[in-house]
Amino acid sequence: MIYTVTCNPALDCAVRLDSLTPGVINFTRDSTLTPGGKGVNVSRVLTALGEPTTALGFVAGSNGCLLESALQGMGLATDFVHLERGQTRINVKLYGDTETQLNAPGAPVLPAAMDTLLERLGGLSADAVCLCGSPAPGMGTDAYARMLAAVDCPCTVVDTTGAALLASLGERPWLIKPNREELAALAGRDLPTLAEVTAAAESLMDKGAQNVLVSLGGEGALWCGGDGVRLYQPAPAGRVIGTVGAGDSTVAGFVAGWLRYGDARRALRLGVACGSATAFAEGLADAEGIAAVLDRLPEIVEM
Ligand SMILES: Nc1ncnc2c1ncn2[C@@H]1O[C@H](COP(=O)(O)OP(=O)(O)OP(=O)(O)O)[C@@H](O)[C@H]1O
Ligand SMILES: [Mg+2]
Repeated sequence: MIYTVTCNPALDCAVRLDSLTPGVINFTRDSTLTPGGKGVNVSRVLTALGEPTTALGFVAGSNGCLLESALQGMGLATDFVHLERGQTRINVKLYGDTETQLNAPGAPVLPAAMDTLLERLGGLSADAVCLCGSPAPGMGTDAYARMLAAVDCPCTVVDTTGAALLASLGERPWLIKPNREELAALAGRDLPTLAEVTAAAESLMDKGAQNVLVSLGGEGALWCGGDGVRLYQPAPAGRVIGTVGAGDSTVAGFVAGWLRYGDARRALRLGVACGSATAFAEGLADAEGIAAVLDRLPEIVEM
């Protein structure tokens, strides 16, 4: 079982309209409400890959119940800690002649709720545990370090940014998955070449990450293994529809591939296939989309 943790999930409300005029009543064409959040995305793509997964994290109020039942309707298990106060946030995306996004802060997580999650994590018998996205308000930057310390599983993944990522490294996560911009922010410099990306990834390995997978958007992804292996998988060309959740799809594909084959090369191929299949899809990748991209993936380059 692959567990994912999303500290601050959301109901994503997408509204389509011809054009948006502030200050008047706008009539919309349609709207949808979809469960969102990085760990939630990872679990959804794992489900498309046929991997058993359970989504953990925090939800609140009736919105939280709706989020859970929507995920269960998609065929994945959930075991969220229910916060006593607040509501799981609703993020609104308005698609008119321009795109407008309204993101809410989310319900604060109090220490007792964090203790409940840590206890739940401590009791897991997991093949992999993926900690994804930003900590929720009130959690502190050591949230992922504390979760890693609680988990007893060799395959732990952290996909977050900045201080929360740095603070997690002392607990030796098995894998971190920064994108190029996140890695550059930590390095304090631009990383225009693969050699520079590799050097920046290696400095995070010096700080404790066992392996680093850097996603490079339309350029694919780079694997830096603790055993010294360096692999670059270019992404295939294709018509990009939306890259939201592409990196989360990469995490899902890589972890599923690693557990299936125990081989970084095949895991990297499945990771990039899932990321690109999401970029080429409306929403997250499905099984057919992933299989089609896997069929036409460029060769891996050994660095
Ligand atoms: N333009 C593109 N063409 C083909 N594949 C893409 C493109 N953009 C992204 N991808 C695929 O998605 C993967 C992840 O992309 P990216 O590096 O943008 O992740 P990210 O920034 O972490 O995304 P997010 O956090 O929004 O999920 C890439 O490794 C690649 O396989
Ligand atoms: Mg990302």
